[in-house]
Amino acid sequence: MTENTINLKQLKLHYQQALPNQMVTAVVVLDHELTICYVNPAAEALLVKSLSKLYRRPIDQVFYNTPIKNERLRQLLTTGQEFSDSDVTIEFFDHQRITVEITASSVTFDQCPHILLEFKQIDQQKQISVEAFQQQQWESARDLIRGLAHEIKNPLGGLRGAAQLLDLELTQAQKEYTAMIIEQADRLTNLVDRLLGPNQLPVMKQQNIHVVIEKVFQLTQFDNPKNITLARDYDPSIPDLTFDQDKLQQTVINIIHNAIQVLDGDNTITLRTRAASNKTINGKRIKLCAQISIIDNGPGIPEHIQSTLFYPMVSGRPSGTGLGLSICQTIIHQHNGKLSCVSRPGYTEFTILLPFNSEKSQ
Ligand SMILES: Nc1ncnc2c1ncn2[C@@H]1O[C@H](COP(=O)(O)OP(=O)(O)OP(=O)(O)O)[C@@H](O)[C@H]1O
Ligand SMILES: [Mg+2]
Repeated sequence: MTENTINLKQLKLHYQQALPNQMVTAVVVLDHELTICYVNPAAEALLVKSLSKLYRRPIDQVFYNTPIKNERLRQLLTTGQEFSDSDVTIEFFDHQRITVEITASSVTFDQCPHILLEFKQIDQQKQISVEAFQQQQWESARDLIRGLAHEIKNPLGGLRGAAQLLDLELTQAQKEYTAMIIEQADRLTNLVDRLLGPNQLPVMKQQNIHVVIEKVFQLTQFDNPKNITLARDYDPSIPDLTFDQDKLQQTVINIIHNAIQVLDGDNTITLRTRAASNKTINGKRIKLCAQISIIDNGPGIPEHIQSTLFYPMVSGRPSGTGLGLSICQTIIHQHNGKLSCVSRPGYTEFTILLPFNSEKSQ
């Protein structure tokens, strides 16, 4: 053997060992019984489970809907016929869905036939550009509305002041009219203040998110005339985060209130917390964040408002002002986080991502 061959062999071995851990493609290795023997870190992130949790699990028990039938995989083991499926929607047990391209090929480890599954997430890139576009639109709509609200607020103050002065000059019977002007001016001021959004910078403090979530849970339980079932699914191991307690509480309450408005006694709202890795926030990849999900099994968000859901004044209710979610979005932005939503009939999930202290999303 020449020196060159040996070097190449070593080189190959070296990279073959190191690369799967760095790859963006999710790699899953199955043995001949179709149970998992190895997943690389990208697959751990995609499947939201660690190797230790996935090891020895039958592949068809990892997904809610099995993207590849076991018969096809067995056929691959016997015939060696590799295959590739694009645009496959995978649904997990928590009803999260992703679109992937799956390639299945056969490999031999320790002289035994194995299957190599490669998952390439194809909706991620699309999702990032849609999010960036929606973010821009949301900012323009918010600025426009804020500008308008600001312009309305000043004369409104003058109007109210003038009505108060006039009130002093009027007879008791006429005061009815000035009272009406003052009342309507107050109503408008209230609306304008909401249009302007949160006017104070958040007061950041290092604390545990469960303090907030649990408080919202208790508050909702005390005031639950429709008897909606409330469920908790916490990951208590999430470390402390830096956030404004009142604002985060307001955000979660707004989201829960929206759900309560459309649900009835047969429905459930679940509050879930998790530590999440490798998430994209404002186009940046964030290694670790806290994830708060508010999930309900109600009718879902009307299709026609889904793409503009977080814009100010977008509402699906006749009496709604459409400001709740826009305010939530502003608050989560102030925390360098991300608020998003997936919804279909029977399943709506609002997700708040808050990066850990050291991780700024800008
Ligand atoms: N969990 C949910 N299920 C179904 N629809 C929802 C849910 N959450 C929000 N929506 C829809 O999203 C719309 C926008 O919500 P948002 O909180 O921004 O405004 P609003 O509730 O209409 O008014 P406001 O909060 O200002 O009083 C709601 O009107 C409702 O149609
Ligand atoms: Mg609302």
